[in-house]
Amino acid sequence: MTSHQVEVRDRRTGEVFVLTVPEHRPLLECFEEHGIDLPFACRQGACTTCAVRVLAGELEQRDAMGLSPALQQEGYALFCVARARSAAIVETQDEDEVYRLQFGRAFAQARRPWWPFPRWTAD
Ligand code: FES
Repeated sequence: MTSHQVEVRDRRTGEVFVLTVPEHRPLLECFEEHGIDLPFACRQGACTTCAVRVLAGELEQRDAMGLSPALQQEGYALFCVARARSAAIVETQDEDEVYRLQFGRAFAQARRPWWPFPRWTAD
């Protein structure tokens, strides 16, 4: 079984955590098993609460449905579904930061109001 060393820099507390993790297991789960408290909500790769920025190394995150391919290319990952593919260093993100990056862009690119339905009035 292949394992990799993963370092997490927690921006909320300034703490740094380092673990050696098997590459087939979700990273959040591995860190939790060692009593390390990191941000999460859905645990399904949907909400971005657990978003990290990958500073070094490679993570696999095929189940990160809540993170756009563009942000994945820019080095963001969802820690609840990510798995290590090499030694890696990541830092936690502010959930609002990733949300703004992802949806702020989408709304800014829209040429019409984001609400997709016509407004019904009682005239
Ligand atoms: S906890 Fe929701 S995407 Fe990871």
